Amino acid sequence: MTRTLDIEQLRAQTPGCAISTHFNHSGSSLPSDTVLAAVTEHLQRESLYGPMEAAANAAGLIDEARADAAGLIGAAPAEIAFSSSGSAAWGLAFAALPPLVEGDRILVGRQEWGGNLSTMQAAAKRAGARIETIPVNEDGSVDANALAAMIDDRVRLVALTWLPANGGLINDAAAIGRVTRAAGIPYFIDAAQALGQLPVDVSAIGCDMLKGSGRKFLRGPRGAAILYLRKAFLKTLEPAYLDVLSSTWGEDGPNVRTDAQRFETSEKPIALLLGLGAALKQARSLGVDAIRRRIRELSGQLRGQLAAIPGVAIHDLGTEKSGLVSFTVAGIAPQALRGKLAEKRITIAANGIPYTPLDMMARGLNEIARASVSYLNTTDEIDRLCDNVAALARQAA
Ligand SMILES: Cc1ncc(COP(=O)(O)O)c(C=O)c1O
Repeated sequence: MTRTLDIEQLRAQTPGCAISTHFNHSGSSLPSDTVLAAVTEHLQRESLYGPMEAAANAAGLIDEARADAAGLIGAAPAEIAFSSSGSAAWGLAFAALPPLVEGDRILVGRQEWGGNLSTMQAAAKRAGARIETIPVNEDGSVDANALAAMIDDRVRLVALTWLPANGGLINDAAAIGRVTRAAGIPYFIDAAQALGQLPVDVSAIGCDMLKGSGRKFLRGPRGAAILYLRKAFLKTLEPAYLDVLSSTWGEDGPNVRTDAQRFETSEKPIALLLGLGAALKQARSLGVDAIRRRIRELSGQLRGQLAAIPGVAIHDLGTEKSGLVSFTVAGIAPQALRGKLAEKRITIAANGIPYTPLDMMARGLNEIARASVSYLNTTDEIDRLCDNVAALARQAA
């Protein structure tokens, strides 16, 4: 059944929609008033009843949030850990892999998030291991066949950023998964830009780890992220550190939890997780299919309108595209463009090399402007953004 989104109502329930024309949903989206209330009301309960006591009363809701996170991606609740950021989640899983040794190889997609890449590069350097980039198809997506040809018994990990931070590409995560599954190699997916934007089914993709931040297309609060670890894979991981939640003290030392909470600590931001829980419920009740359809339609429209402006170049790769629209305007640096639009209360982002170093360098790009579309955006907002970009492009010409 096709669900229709009541955009007017959803915007009315999002205080930020009345303040600015927000096109930075891939940086951080606008939370709904339900998410805001879930956070602030819990902070109030903490101040009134004591944080530990308020947390005990909220335990059922945290379980629900975990079940909703699992439900969003086709996982089991025991396969979900909450973390503070996508990068922290990724780093926890990576640090729990068997140590690299000299000659080991890690194969990465060209659009890998810069933070993940730095983490891998530092570990590889210490061990004398190598990071290698998987070639891309003609449309810029990671080439699964090329990956298959690179596999040997020294490959310890395949890492893919599914939807890159620097544009509209959607990699074929399942095609990569078929290769890693056949080879029995751990497969990590950075789904920062996918959660809440695209339907996700971890079994169909065949990944061992997948993570994403709550604040982006899910519209949760900052400071909360979701880490999925496949049940059978989870057992092979050794957390870099433990605490009184992830392990209990036994006669022979720590007994480490067997579920994904072996990657959590007992101290956690309950208010933020309740906010994330509210955001997850909202995304699931709207339906990610319906969200995806609207984002695809709006971002296609935005891409088309921007492309028609003299002086504007679109930089999105891929055949099927996400809601991230990357572009440059002749004569205006992306950061300056961002600043000029911000004066009009239109928010976009400007990304340099550090977020996606391999891809930016391979394409000779130093910086791009990025307008990211949510289902909350409207065609009027797209017109407003494009009219302002057109005016700035004319001035710069
Ligand atoms: C693809 C991708 N990975 C990772 C991150 C970083 O996530 P976090 O800031 O939650 O660590 C981002 C943030 O924009 C991203 O786009």
